[in-house]
Parts: sequence; C-alpha cells; structure tokens
Amino acid sequence: MFKINDNYLKLPGSYLFSTIAKKVNAYSQAHPEKKIIRLGIGDVTQPLAPSIIDALHHAVDEMGKAETFHGYAPDLGYEFLRRAIVENDYKARGCDIAADEIFISDGAKCDSGNIQEIFSTDNKIAVCDPVYPVYVDTNVMAGRTGTYDAGKEVWSDVIYMPCLADNHFAPELPKETPDIIYLCFPNNPTGSAITKAQLQEWVDYANKTGAVIIYDAAYEAYISQEDVPHTIYECEGAKACAIELRSFSKNAGFTGVRLGFTVIPRELKCGEVSLHSLWARRHGTKYNGAPYIVQRAGEAVYSPDGKAQIKEQIAYYMKNAKYILEGLKDAGYAVSGGVNSPYIWLKAPNGMTSWEFFDYLLENANVVGTPGSGFGPSGETYFRLTAFGSYENTVEAVERIRKL
Ligand code: MLT
Repeated sequence: MFKINDNYLKLPGSYLFSTIAKKVNAYSQAHPEKKIIRLGIGDVTQPLAPSIIDALHHAVDEMGKAETFHGYAPDLGYEFLRRAIVENDYKARGCDIAADEIFISDGAKCDSGNIQEIFSTDNKIAVCDPVYPVYVDTNVMAGRTGTYDAGKEVWSDVIYMPCLADNHFAPELPKETPDIIYLCFPNNPTGSAITKAQLQEWVDYANKTGAVIIYDAAYEAYISQEDVPHTIYECEGAKACAIELRSFSKNAGFTGVRLGFTVIPRELKCGEVSLHSLWARRHGTKYNGAPYIVQRAGEAVYSPDGKAQIKEQIAYYMKNAKYILEGLKDAGYAVSGGVNSPYIWLKAPNGMTSWEFFDYLLENANVVGTPGSGFGPSGETYFRLTAFGSYENTVEAVERIRKL
C-alpha cells in the first residue's frame, strides 16, 4: 500500500493567493454589477515592452526553420542570456559573477521553492515574519519544520524574525542560530528595503555562523535609493555564503511568460561540497530549461531599447506606488513601503484584523488587497496593496478607500 508525503497534511488551508482568488470570485459572482479593482496578488498589468515582443517574434520565426530551430536548451540556460545577465546585473555593479554561476529557470517562485532540496532536512530555517509563503510552505512539504500552532499561526522548528514598524520592517539577527536564512529585499510583502551596510551585517553573520543565505532579489528593479543594494554580491564575502534568486516577472512583466535565474557562486561550499554542483545535478535531472523563445525575450530585456522601455514601465508602476502611499497617508492611514518596491504596507484601521479589513474593503470599496496575516503572525493587522494595477484603477481604488 502506498503512502503519501504526510508533511503535506500539516499545511493549513490553501495557498494564500488561491484563498483570496476564491473569496473574490465568490463575491464577484454574488455581485456581478460591481467593478472590482484587484490590487492583491503582485501580478503585472502592462503589456510586454516592444523590444521583447520583437525578440519573441524573431525567435518564433527561427523555430519555424530547420536551420534555426532549437530543441532542448542547455542545462544552465543559453550562453547569450547568461552573458547578458553577468554584464548588466553583476559586472555593471562591480560584482564578479561568472556566466557559469547563473542557472536560468522558468521563474523565481519555482527556484525559491525548489532550492531547499539540496539541503538536509535537519537544517533549521530562519524567515522574516511576515514572509513570502513559498519559503515556509516548501520547507513544510520537505519535512524540515515541526508542527503548526493554529492559534499562534507559527511552525515549530522555524526561527521567525519579526519585521514590525519598530524595526522599520527589517529583521534583527536571530538569538538562535539558523542554518538557512531566507531574506527578500526589497521585501515582499512589507515593501521595506535595507541598506548595503545592513545587508553586509547579514553576510558577516552567515559567514561567522556557517549559515547559508537564500537571497530573493525579485524586486531589485524598483530600488530608487542609492544606498540600497541591488544584489547581495555587492557585499564583501557574499559569494561564500549566499545564493541569489532573480526574476523577470516584476522587472520586465514576465509573470505570464516565465523566466528567472538563480546564482550559486562556485566558492559557496559545505565542507568540500560545492552547492553549485548539487544544484547543477538537480537542474540537469529535473529540469529541461526555459524555452528558447523566452530566453531570447529575456536577452532583449538587456538591449539598449529594452532597458529604456522597461525603465518607463517601472516608473509607471512606481507612480502608482507613490499615489497609493501619499493618498492613504493623507487619509490618515499608517503606510510604508512603495519607495524601493511596488508594495505598500498599511495598518488596518480601527483595530480590524487583516482579514476583517480584507472583507470590509472588498464589500465597501470593491478593492482587493492581501491580508498581512497571510504572510505570518507579525503581519496581523497589516494589509498589502500592489502598485501593479493600471494608473486609472489605482487612482480609483485610492479614492474609494479615502471615501470609506
Ligand atoms: C505576490 O503577490 O506576493 C507575488 O505575486 C507572488 C509571486 O511572485 O509568486
């Protein structure tokens, strides 16, 4: 008789964004006349930039001719894309990352969920609280966590690092030493950022304690302040302790196209074992690469025209972020984020819980956001709005909230 992986049974409810989608669909079916504005999941709304569309068309045509047809992609991804990444994302920032330290994938969500596979289940993870749920849920599935306390909404055997208004939503070094530290900056969900000096403290801490940092930099393109690092490899010693996850979803609108990459420097080792070789083994065995046409689209992101068009797109979303931030501040809400990130983090008014505010906003303003408690216990009474809507919808949503 077969047995299931009963770690899955420990997971409470469904994935956060699935729960939200179900609630919103139920409301919309009951009230088909209402115009719902969705600022919940961080999904982009602007079309792909013209340079990316051109690259896709060109690559599709190549696939239609025997001489230029492409089958399986190389394990690590095409050299043309890995070189463009190295030049633009690393060398241009003074970071010495080699093309063969980049692993192309179909997105940072999969990588952030899969990366834990190369570590022992005995490792203890530390996560920011609130946190992107994928990091914790995938460790639960792997059996790396203990049991769930539904009252406190925490897992045993997980180190939670509270990120609250008091510490400007930046985690403090934990009292108990973790083996694996998940960091995401600019942060999802709080929209906070940390300076290079603050990140250097984490790198020094990891190198001192022998921990590995899994650094999710999916939102780096939204950084507007000088002293905020775009990659962890700007910090000294990071190549010996950090894996970096990157995405094309938020910087270039690829949520429906799917492309990302993971950086594992060769010098990142556990004793004599290189994590690079473990991930290469895993990647080669379980993955057949992002499609050629998508990798060509990714290359176009780094072309001069692509860069200019994408800059405009990010400015568009950041104009929304500013509108939400200032509009809600003006209406008396306690709001943060939105400066180096497309996420705005606000305190639910009048002592409401996160889900109470979710329901209140859906019913009274027909605006969808994400309840902060869905990201962890320290997110309770907070709420996340995204700047990824259209400008018109963003303005209307803020006006509706202001009128409540
Ligand atoms: C979010 O809303 O937190 C993100 O869209 C989730 C993701 O990128 O997977």
